[in-house]
Amino acid sequence: MKLLPTLAALVTVGLAFPVIDNLDADAHQKAGQLAARTLKILEEENFQPVRRSALPLPEDALGISRAETNCGPTIPCPYFDAKDQYVSVEGEYAYAAPAPDEIRGPCPGLNAAANHGYLPRSGTATIEETVRGLNKLYNLGVELGAVLAAYAIVIDGDLAGGSWSIGGPQQSDPLTPFFGNGQGLSYSHNSYEGDGSIGRLDAFTNNGDAHSLSIEKFESVYKTGGDDTSENGFDQRFTIDKFRAQYQEVQKHSIATNPYYFTGAFSTVVVVPAAYNFVINFMSNHSEEEPSGYLDGYNFKQFFGVTGKPGSFVWHKGQERIPENWYKRPTISPYGLADVAADVGIGYLAYPETLRFGGNTGTVNSFTGVAVEDLTGGVLNAKTLFEGDNFACFIFVLLQQGIPHFLKGPLDAINSATSFFDPFLTPILGKLECPELGNFDQSLFNQFPGYKYSPTGPATNY
Ligand code: HEM
Repeated sequence: MKLLPTLAALVTVGLAFPVIDNLDADAHQKAGQLAARTLKILEEENFQPVRRSALPLPEDALGISRAETNCGPTIPCPYFDAKDQYVSVEGEYAYAAPAPDEIRGPCPGLNAAANHGYLPRSGTATIEETVRGLNKLYNLGVELGAVLAAYAIVIDGDLAGGSWSIGGPQQSDPLTPFFGNGQGLSYSHNSYEGDGSIGRLDAFTNNGDAHSLSIEKFESVYKTGGDDTSENGFDQRFTIDKFRAQYQEVQKHSIATNPYYFTGAFSTVVVVPAAYNFVINFMSNHSEEEPSGYLDGYNFKQFFGVTGKPGSFVWHKGQERIPENWYKRPTISPYGLADVAADVGIGYLAYPETLRFGGNTGTVNSFTGVAVEDLTGGVLNAKTLFEGDNFACFIFVLLQQGIPHFLKGPLDAINSATSFFDPFLTPILGKLECPELGNFDQSLFNQFPGYKYSPTGPATNY
């Protein structure tokens, strides 16, 4: 979609200043319209901003973590309904490996969705396509899909065209120089992608590549599921608690090996641990015997594009699959924003060492923490962070305030991005009982070299 072709053409011939005001007004209007249109469509599809998360302060968080099923923390999966939960991998949803011009990236859940046509096979999607496709395939909550996609559009996507890339940079439109050259998820380091991932290496330690699967990391997480070393892996069983413990180990390893290790942004405080939880909550299979879901080695490998057995695993880049005879979570139990907040929160309470704000200072094992009090101007501390709705409030404000911080470009573009994004977030925040959180003091992070490390992608798609 072309934005303001005449004005943009003038900008390219060097008359930038006289047109910036007009660009500002038009771009704002357009961003607002795009957000309003999308929200209207979602409303027609029963857009429910959020269930209250009201995370209780559990006395025995570790016990709760250990007892949690693969169905998540809020709504159980009480029965199995084959018709409702069956996921087609035939016809229009048949698997096809990506063509050379199709984009795939760091997220196996999205890659598998695109390889089966639940997301556009091109690897770029609008909010509506994201919400519909991920809801149909995984029963991912409508409001969660909308917020994740809207954020991807403003932070790393094509705001003018209203789409985002699940992998590398999108083709930029020469007529929209201020927009449309988002780096995609693959090169969204710290704004979306972060250190300490379940299967990808930290960007700094892998020449900026945080989207390729590390077989070593996969071997390590695979072991948490048991001792089945057979090729099919049917006897492995992965649980959310084992993954939370694994996250603690991975963090320690990152601190010991990555001089630029950083955690403090929405990406590292929420997206990275949430991705561990997504494996359990979205990739588990469901059956009559195990209605809450189970994840064995076979399904885990299929979703991650891995073949072979422990010791000789092989990753097939961009070839993540939905297994055959796989049944998603039931329609009565979508996994949404409240579940993300609750699951990430339980993880921090059960494994308190993993709640970190700060980073290494340029050498390994130099982790220096920033206190929650300092970051939030004294409004919250490590304990009150988990009272009432505070944690949910905190993560949404972290998300919102990160946008101007990570967006490069003129102020106009940043304002347009926030006017596009805020309508998605405001109804959510409105449902929560939030303390006055003001502006987080993100300048405290400037001391960490990893905070500013921002690798960019090649012009190619991966
Ligand atoms: C709009 C929806 C989604 C967006 C924008 C998104 C985005 C991302 C991003 C940015 C990462 C990199 C995070 C990191 O550095 O660890 C990631 C990783 C991951 N995502 Fe997604 N994701 C989405 C949906 C899903 C779904 C539905 C699943 C599961 C079915 C999923 C599973 C994962 C997993 C397992 C990883 C970690 C991969 C690894 O480290 O090997 N995601 N996703």
